Parts: sequence; C-alpha cells; structure tokens
Amino acid sequence: MNNQFEKRSDFVVVANRLSVDRVVADDGSETWRTSPGGLVTALEPVMQSRRGSAWVGWPGSPDEELEPFVHDGIQLVPVSLSAQDVTEYYEGFSNATLWPLFHDGVAFPEYHREWWDAYVRVNRRFAEAAAAVAAEGAQVWVQDYQLLLVPRMLRTLRPDLYIGFFLHIPFPPMELFVQLPWRAEILDGLLGSDLVGFQIAGGASNFIHLVSERLGYPTGDDTVTLPDGRVCAARAYPISIPTQRFADLAADPAVQERAREIRAELDDPELLFLGVDRLDYTKGIKHRLRAFGELVTSGQLDPDRAAFLQVATPSRERVEEYKMLRDEIDRIVGRINGSVGRIGRQPVTYLHTHYPREEMVAMYSAADVMVVSPLRDGMNLVAKEYIACRRNGDGALVLSEFTGAADELSEWTYSINPYDINGMKATMLRAATDAPEERQRRMAALREQVFTHDIDRWAESFLADMG
Ligand code: ADP
Ligand code: F6P
Repeated sequence: MNNQFEKRSDFVVVANRLSVDRVVADDGSETWRTSPGGLVTALEPVMQSRRGSAWVGWPGSPDEELEPFVHDGIQLVPVSLSAQDVTEYYEGFSNATLWPLFHDGVAFPEYHREWWDAYVRVNRRFAEAAAAVAAEGAQVWVQDYQLLLVPRMLRTLRPDLYIGFFLHIPFPPMELFVQLPWRAEILDGLLGSDLVGFQIAGGASNFIHLVSERLGYPTGDDTVTLPDGRVCAARAYPISIPTQRFADLAADPAVQERAREIRAELDDPELLFLGVDRLDYTKGIKHRLRAFGELVTSGQLDPDRAAFLQVATPSRERVEEYKMLRDEIDRIVGRINGSVGRIGRQPVTYLHTHYPREEMVAMYSAADVMVVSPLRDGMNLVAKEYIACRRNGDGALVLSEFTGAADELSEWTYSINPYDINGMKATMLRAATDAPEERQRRMAALREQVFTHDIDRWAESFLADMG
C-alpha cells in the first residue's frame, strides 16, 4: 500500500465496499483483506488493468476516516460510514429491505422510513465522493443495489460525466418491486445513468416494463427516453470471472498438492461433494444439505464413501435472518453427522470462515461434484470458478435453475429446482454416477463458455456501450 494518489481519474468505479476491508488485529496492527462477495472477485482485475482508475467505497468498518491510498495498483477512495449508517443504510435498507425483495421475497422485506432516510443520505455521500474524484468527461461506473440513487445524484452534480450502473443481483418483476414505498425515487435514481446493466435479459425487460407502466416514459426494446430528451439504455451483461487466473492457479503444483491433501484430510472419500457460498439464505445451503443428508441416511449414498464439504464465508452477521440461518445450518449439520457419522468419519464437514483464493481453488480441484443451489441468485460466480479450475475436464456441476449462471450454462449442467428436494437428490446422484465420458462432454462445453466469456469481455462490452 502507498499514498501516491492521483487526484482525478478518467475511470471511476463506485461500490458499497472497497476491494479490500481494513482488519485491525488485537495488538492494533492493521492489514487489508479482500472484501467478501462476487462483486470484488469480478471488478478487481478490471480495475488492476486500468491504471490510474479510482475505486470509491466503504472500508468495511464503522467510523473509519481514511485518506485515499493505493493498494494492488488501484487508487482507493474511502467513504466513511458511521455506526448508525451501517445499521440503517447497510444492514437495514440494503440488506433487510432491498436484498430480500430483489431475491423473490425469499425472506420478508422490512420497510422503515428511517432506513430509507439513511439510504438517501449515504447515497448522496457516495455521489459527492465520486463527483470529487472524476475528471472532466470521465466514465463513472456505479455498482449494485446499495447505490441505486447515485446515478441521478451524480448527474445533477456532474452533467459532464458518462454514467453507467450495473446491478449484480436480480431485478424483480413488477409485482414485487411495486411493494417499495420509494419505488418512483429508485427508478428515477437509476434513470440518471446512460446505461443500466443487468445480469440477465429478464432483469432489463422488468426494468423497462416498470418505467413504462409506472412513470409513463416512452420506451423502446432496451431504451427509455426521459422528459429532457436524454436516452437511458437497459441491457443484459452477464458478469464473469478472470477465468485464466483461476485456471493458472489450478495448474500450480502447490495447489494441486493441496487438493490431494484436502481429500486425504477428509479421509479419502470416493465421492466428494462441495458447496461454497457466503452464508446467505438465498444460496439454498439448507436445501442442499438436507438433500445430501437424506441420501446418506437412506443409504442411497454410502456415508463411508461419500462426503460433503461445505464452506460458508461469514456475511452480514448482525442481520437477524443471517443469525437464524447460521443456527439452522449448525443444527442440520449436527443432525446428519450425529445420525450417520462414526468416530473418525463425518459425512459433512462445515467450515464457517473466509479462505485465501489458493485454498478455494484447491477445494474446487479436489471436488467431484459441485452443488450450487440458490433459491435466487443474480449470477453466481462460484459456479464459473469451479468450471475454470477443472483442468482435466472432469467433475460435474449441479446448478439451480434460479441463478443467472443457469441462463448461460444450464444446457450442460445438472440442473435443479432447489425447492424440489427429491428432484435434487436424484440429480445429485446422477451427477455423481454418470459415465465419465458424459461428464467430460458437459464439462468441455462449460469450459468453452466460461473461457470465451470472461470478465474482460464483460467489462469491455459494457464500457464500449456506455460511451
Ligand atoms: P455473492 O456475490 O452473492 O457472494 P458469488 O458466487 O457470485 O456470490 O461470489 C462469491 C465469491 O466469494 C466468489 O468469488 C467465491 O470464490 C468467494 N468466496 C465464497 N466463499 C468463500 C470463502 N469461504 N472464502 C473465500 N472466498 C469465498
Ligand atoms: O452482489 C452481491 C453482493 O451483495 C455485493 O454487492 C457485495 O459486495 C457482496 O455481495 C458481499 O456482500 P456484503 O458487502 O454485504 O458483505
């Protein structure tokens, strides 16, 4: 890290979090750790390849007043949040109102006027920080549901900028969106952009339909004409990963050795299933563990030969739904291991912690079957990471039809509806027992898709369309 900060940038990303979180140890020493979630996995390489660009975001803890600094070649511009902002804007409106509402209402969205006030206040702070750092005529790319109001606020402050917005999570159908007491303000916030990007075509068409029905603005297939004559476009740009970086790591002999060690430490199962997620109720972790649990307790899978490794990085731990989820998963894992485990052999290994990229890649390399079972997910990068790491072309991906990734990949994955536990059990068994040639055929097609549609292609196509 250093502080050689170039003041104004031609390319600025604005996201709730910076690419790194500040971590202070008990002895007061400070380190920076990659922030959780797919947004950072995707955007970090995009920013590293654009010298002099700036990333405006929150450093991950309350009441941090930090000067801009450079980390891993990216200029970071910290935005401070007070403890009250964290409670009301981040945990409240972002993660207890918008997050559940935009994910099909799989948890109950809460509507509180003081959370909304905080959301407006904090969005203004991000818009002001971006306005201060952007050079004349710069491209500013605002990210995700925490900052839906920033495009309009920024356009008011800096009409000279090109403003793009990308939504990493699903955009809901009109019937759900209109629950929001502040629906018109949010649509207007997004319409401050020149281009709004969604993960899948359905999100873009939900947005255009809403704007037409609720605001009455003229719309085309993928455009809205605003009262001042400006045009805002809305299209799908399915996000991806730095595929080659994952493939290179998977080819590293040290990582391959670690993959062998992981299997050995799990008592060398013949069949290893893997789940990797933020600990989030949208990810369907309970559903997949329940399916695996029934397979081993019924004897359809031999608990002496099959194992499930579930890794869940801690997330939003003070939000009530996340606390309840953590307890429930502890209980489900305990029940499975208690009923079919024996001394020295537990069918489910559950790790609630964050790991370095090398360890994640070793896990992907070690696993025979990856189970990705969200109830709803904008994209799901974990699915793509698994594919990138299968350098021998083996392995099988079980993928929920309710992910953005399924739009691109479901032709070759073992596709599931995670609400259908019997269907999921049958598909997990099939993924595990299909002929090796069939699994190779599917994996070859998946790899072709993920290598040709990587994160560079995603960023280039969005930025070229943005102007
Ligand atoms: P989301 O953005 O909702 O968290 P994604 O699947 O798109 O979901 O992205 C999750 C990202 O977090 C991936 O890049 C994955 O490698 C990373 N990740 C998930 N679990 C862990 C973990 N336990 N330790 C480190 N990284 C993790
Ligand atoms: O789109 C998924 C996302 O919400 C990102 O915006 C975010 O960076 C990531 O998940 C992790 O969530 P959080 O920042 O709340 O820990």
